[in-house]
Amino acid sequence: MPLFRQSATIARILNVSSRLALQKNVTNPSIKNLLQDEETLSEGKIEHMISQFLDDVYKGTWKDKGWPKVWTDYSISKLALYAHSKLLAKQNKGRNISVNCFCPGFTRTAMTGGRGDRTAEEAAEVGARIALLPPHCLLSGEFFKISTHSLTPKL
Ligand SMILES: NC(=O)c1ccc[n+]([C@@H]2O[C@H](COP(=O)([O-])OP(=O)(O)OC[C@H]3O[C@@H](n4cnc5c(N)ncnc54)[C@H](OP(=O)(O)O)[C@@H]3O)[C@@H](O)[C@H]2O)c1
Repeated sequence: MPLFRQSATIARILNVSSRLALQKNVTNPSIKNLLQDEETLSEGKIEHMISQFLDDVYKGTWKDKGWPKVWTDYSISKLALYAHSKLLAKQNKGRNISVNCFCPGFTRTAMTGGRGDRTAEEAAEVGARIALLPPHCLLSGEFFKISTHSLTPKL
């Protein structure tokens, strides 16, 4: 971040995320509040969320604690990534740094065993397009996903 802050032009961070970072997948009320309250969101709170999940795993209670039901550990890593991206965007507001997330959608890669709706090249092309948006169109703290016909910010 210190190097990004010194950049003469807009610094652009695009974290590759997943729709599984949707907060609706979390039903645990305290975690939901933590993720939704952008004013008080902090690195400490994000770390606390992860520690809470690990604690529930160690205790064997995670299934009843309102964590995402599908690809749980992956989803939580993406929730943390999205929360951290929003935090970075907020902390660097007005500093010429854009921080966003992007879900490439179901893409044919090693992770999906070669299954998916698009090739890695097609997904990367869209990611590059977001990262290289002209300064007047460049948002920060957003979540982009590929929809059928267009590129839409927000989940
Ligand atoms: N494919 C999808 O449908 C899909 C959907 C939504 C989001 N995503 C996201 O898109 C991103 C790329 O996924 P992918 O589908 O391309 O998966 P992938 O085919 O499994 O590729 C993952 C890449 O990450 C590298 N990697 C894994 N762990 C690493 C580590 N600890 N340090 C450094 N590199 C590491 C791997 O390197 P090696 O090859 O050396 O192991 C590999 O190049 C991920 O963030 C994934 O969550 C993918």
